[in-house]
Amino acid sequence: MTATPTTSAVPTPALLDVYARVGPLMVSGRGAELVADDGTRYLDFVAGIGVNALGYDHPVIRGAIERALADGLIHVSNLYRTEPGERLAEELVARSFADRAFFCNSGAEANEAAFKFARKWSGKSEIVAFSGSFHGRLFATLAATDRPDYRKPFEPLVPGIRIVPREEWAAVDRAVSASRTAAVIVEPVQGEGGVRPLDAEWLGFVRELCDSRGVAVIFDEVQCGLGRTGTLFAYEQTGVVPDILTLAKPLAGGLPMGAALVTSAVAAALKPGDHATTFGGGPLVASVALDVVRTIADPALLADVRRKGEWMGARLERLASVISRVKAVRGRGLLWGIELSEPAAPFVAAARERGLLVLTAGPDVIRLIPPLVITDPELERGVAMLEEVLA
Ligand SMILES: Cc1ncc(COP(=O)(O)O)c(C=O)c1O
Repeated sequence: MTATPTTSAVPTPALLDVYARVGPLMVSGRGAELVADDGTRYLDFVAGIGVNALGYDHPVIRGAIERALADGLIHVSNLYRTEPGERLAEELVARSFADRAFFCNSGAEANEAAFKFARKWSGKSEIVAFSGSFHGRLFATLAATDRPDYRKPFEPLVPGIRIVPREEWAAVDRAVSASRTAAVIVEPVQGEGGVRPLDAEWLGFVRELCDSRGVAVIFDEVQCGLGRTGTLFAYEQTGVVPDILTLAKPLAGGLPMGAALVTSAVAAALKPGDHATTFGGGPLVASVALDVVRTIADPALLADVRRKGEWMGARLERLASVISRVKAVRGRGLLWGIELSEPAAPFVAAARERGLLVLTAGPDVIRLIPPLVITDPELERGVAMLEEVLA
């Protein structure tokens, strides 16, 4: 299954050029494989950057879409009640620390909602984020994202949002103010910033600091949540419980959906009219999300992610010990980063040429986010291809 470049890969000039789109035209997918228009099959360790947790063409997603369409309800205004959104909220609340759920359409929107909720709850305005963070591309989330190249052309961003060094105790102690800070936002496992599981002890310190200063803790689990690290939520492995948790990517199996889960204390600060989004939690996306969450929350599936993650970690450690350009490997569950001593992009391109899709996480890290349902032979095949490319 060696990939060859396609000839139909010239992108249309009609699409705005904000993505560095590469390679072939993808026309279908099944499981952990994407198929291009020339028939080339790619083993996909990108999975829509974490969206396609159940892979492509999963029967649960297909079934949920078909059932939802049979009712004729793709969208109903949030001015009226619909069943799927109410059931989904109950499901997420039952499975987490949270008491209430708010639904929106993307990760950035979920984080923007979290900022507003924390401001209203605390009566304060400042937000503290950390180096290596990625929280989205809207104005407030961009201000909380540690990527000067993404930020610079669009300044001024939202004021009152600062980025301080991650995992530094004194820095966060100085930055979090009892009189000014509304919230701290952190990814328990940083994704775009190089795949870094953050120190649980430091997260515990941040939690204590926030408790003593009346500051909300927001966990951004847009990338690392919903089974990705081997538990339904990544916070379960940290011993730290947030006040607000944001989700998106895999939530509705590829349909656009985000969520902010909140405690009853945060919820009590919010009233009708405080926040809204037209499409949020509509019946089609919520029906699919309900079945996706139930499927991912199956203890057997989560145990399988942990087992595959342990295998992957051991295999990548071995790879690091024999290939000198590999400086470090980091990860949890089925989210891994391979830090190189040189730029990662050429290796991503070389892997694609061989039929393996991987992506970067920063300039020198190769990121691996296969579907959670990937089979053992596929995982082995992908890592073997990567090893050839890196060697
Ligand atoms: C941790 C994290 N937060 C937020 C976002 C933004 O999500 P979206 O692209 O759906 O707005 C991303 C996207 O990659 C992410 O990885």
